[in-house]
Amino acid sequence: MILGINIDHIATLRQARLGTEPDPVMAATLAILGGADGITLHLREDRRHVNDRDLDMLIGFITVELNLEMAATEEMLRIATKKLPGLVTIVPEKRQELTTEGGLNLKAGKNSLKKAVGRLKDKGIRTSLFINPAIEDVDLSKDIGADMVEIHTGTYANASGEARERERAKVVRSVIHATDAGLKANAGHGLNYHNVTGIAEIEGVRGLYIGHSIISRAVLVGMEKAVRDMKELIMMSCPMQ
Ligand code: PXP
Repeated sequence: MILGINIDHIATLRQARLGTEPDPVMAATLAILGGADGITLHLREDRRHVNDRDLDMLIGFITVELNLEMAATEEMLRIATKKLPGLVTIVPEKRQELTTEGGLNLKAGKNSLKKAVGRLKDKGIRTSLFINPAIEDVDLSKDIGADMVEIHTGTYANASGEARERERAKVVRSVIHATDAGLKANAGHGLNYHNVTGIAEIEGVRGLYIGHSIISRAVLVGMEKAVRDMKELIMMSCPMQ
């Protein structure tokens, strides 16, 4: 099973000061050193976190799977068909949302998604659709011509007890149905150190795409060393020891 790391929130931190650090490209290389099988970035219309420079640098640089998450807009399709990432995951996008809120509305968007997937596939780009865990959505993804689906695990992640088990069962059914239909099945959203095993143990899942929980842990596990490094520097320069 592959692990794709979403580095958007490294860029979120950078954009808090509109500066240059932390650099998502450096974070991506460290993630790869740590064993990441892929790097994901969501290039949003408003460029609120990662930007075109990040995409350019990562495409030129990393050798693991680069997964470009994007809305199926004309602007993004033009960028993807020019830059040629290894994988594109089409997601719904709303300006006001804090994060992707759910899977695509495949029924309403079927025709335009078919065209978008066709344009990407014409350029040899593998294409995945971010979908809710529902049999109907797997069938629609097949009709649309996607190579893969990424099953939204956000509702599973936010639920507890029996509700979580019900949500997990929906993911399991969707993975089985996708595999039977010849689609590769990925999963992601809201996965963290407490809930990931319930999804990782599902047979047939090709890969997991995780961002926020890993970036959050990275900030905390790195805190002690970061403070120690600064303190050492200050103590070395300070005339009054
Ligand atoms: N998969 C998709 C399609 C997403 O939009 C996101 C969030 O950007 C993720 C996975 C990662 O979610 P999280 O940050 O909650 O791990």
